[in-house]
Amino acid sequence: MKTAVLLAAAWANLVLGQGVPAPAADGRYTISAPGIKAQFIPYGASLTNLWVKDKHGNDIDVVLGYDNASYYPVDPGHPVYNSIPGRYANRIGNGTYKIGDKTFTTEKNDGSNTLHSGTNNWSYRFWNVTAVSSDSITFSIIDKSNSSLGMIGLVESNVTYSLTNSTWNIKITANSPEAKTPVLLTQHTYFNLDAYKNPATPLIWDHTLYLPYSKRYLEADQGALPTGKILTAAPGSINDFASAPNMPFGHAKDLPGFKGNCGADGACEGYNGYWLVEGAPKGAAVVTLASPFSGVKADLRTDQPGVVIYSCSWMDGSAPIKSTQGLNSTQKVVKSSCVAIEAQDYPDGINHPEWGRLDAQILGPGQKYNWESSWTFGLL
Ligand SMILES: *[C@@H]1O[C@H](CO)[C@@H](O)[C@H](O)[C@H]1NC(C)=O
Ligand SMILES: *[C@@H]1O[C@H](CO)[C@@H](O)[C@H](O)[C@H]1NC(C)=O
Ligand SMILES: *[C@@H]1O[C@H](CO)[C@@H](O)[C@H](O)[C@H]1NC(C)=O
Ligand SMILES: *[C@@H]1O[C@H](CO)[C@@H](O)[C@H](O)[C@H]1NC(C)=O
Ligand SMILES: *[C@@H]1O[C@H](CO)[C@@H](O)[C@H](O)[C@H]1NC(C)=O
Ligand SMILES: *[C@@H]1O[C@H](CO)[C@@H](O)[C@H](O)[C@H]1NC(C)=O
Ligand SMILES: *[C@@H]1O[C@H](CO)[C@@H](O)[C@H](O)[C@H]1NC(C)=O
Ligand SMILES: *[C@@H]1O[C@H](CO)[C@@H](O)[C@H](O)[C@H]1NC(C)=O
Repeated sequence: MKTAVLLAAAWANLVLGQGVPAPAADGRYTISAPGIKAQFIPYGASLTNLWVKDKHGNDIDVVLGYDNASYYPVDPGHPVYNSIPGRYANRIGNGTYKIGDKTFTTEKNDGSNTLHSGTNNWSYRFWNVTAVSSDSITFSIIDKSNSSLGMIGLVESNVTYSLTNSTWNIKITANSPEAKTPVLLTQHTYFNLDAYKNPATPLIWDHTLYLPYSKRYLEADQGALPTGKILTAAPGSINDFASAPNMPFGHAKDLPGFKGNCGADGACEGYNGYWLVEGAPKGAAVVTLASPFSGVKADLRTDQPGVVIYSCSWMDGSAPIKSTQGLNSTQKVVKSSCVAIEAQDYPDGINHPEWGRLDAQILGPGQKYNWESSWTFGLL
């Protein structure tokens, strides 16, 4: 099982576990189960296509991506399309953190902060494919000590994607046998549940979003870095998605403050923040995203204490949509036409001991990191 086979030329950097087949000619692996089909590539351990049934019984592809699997590694936009950023996703404030008394300096690649661990981040790597079956695939990565500046100690991680009955299950494990190091992982998928086929609008604001256990969210500064403060959204206010089911995702789009709600001195419209999940019964859906147009409803279940919600304000209309999506081939991924939903621990929790997340975010010898979520698809 551990023996690796190196493939030549066609897929440079691709290492397959023993008995693991090469991907199809289009670079993808396809897995399926009743009501659902998913396709993946080793680059970033990324999901490229996710097919579910719409209200007319048609299979539609509800996640963003590219037709050309070879384009992902060279894409200058690199929106972390449906991949696994790591070893510490999201931001590290001021490019520094402490473990015990020791201060570590990380690469400032996002203003004065570190984003997704710096320039050797996991979403830019070709993961190894260690197991494949008709309904599941496992990717693995070995991240050497200091391969991203200030990330000390080797970390090994596996991600298994499996499908069962209209559900996409995701399990991530990691260990850090050499040293204590920050580990915070997520699956970074972008959705448009209309597959860009709604003639009325490509925008995401007609979708509905319900976060029943997320009255509270982290205040963030203009650089999307948490300030430390935890705020409560008043019912009907911009950041409220807890007070009523079926609230349009764009319920606040005409309120003052919506443009600039995600910082950048007014340039970021909508959402790029973190909502706490609190008091959810075990197994409860903590996020429901749905679209009246397609009729598709997606329920997230997770063992994580919150979710990042990003409404694609930085999509600038330069990226094409996939040929599996849209009404014609001229459509682009325009601003606010998708939403990324990322179950994860508190961003920059490593720098906020007052949140009590240090034990969850520092991984060391003898410990194991576990992360588990699932998306179940159905109809409204
Ligand atoms: C896919 O993308 C790669 C990398 O940009 C490029 O070399 C190749 O020509 C593209 N293939 C097609 C069919 O567009
Ligand atoms: C920011 O990082 C620098 C080192 O890169 C450090 O000297 C300074 O104390 C840090 N500031 C804060 C507020 O953590
Ligand atoms: C991730 O790593 C790639 C490759 O080194 C680099 O080009 C990119 O800027 C990095 N991304 C971030 C957010 O640091
Ligand atoms: C894949 O496995 C090979 C052989 O074990 C290893 O050298 C390589 O670093 C692994 N790749 C990644 C991305 O971890
Ligand atoms: C990590 O790498 C940087 C250069 O990229 C180096 O200055 C630093 O000493 C390294 N740290 C450790 C602990 O190896
Ligand atoms: C599949 O899911 C549907 C809808 O949630 C449910 O009614 C059905 O019992 C499930 N089937 C199996 C085999 O789990
Ligand atoms: C990853 O999977 C391999 C088997 O392919 C296993 O030996 C290793 O212990 C796993 N590591 C983690 C962190 O789950
Ligand atoms: C393609 O679809 C978009 C979105 O509905 C529409 O605005 C545009 O006019 C269409 N272009 C063509 C050439 O049909």
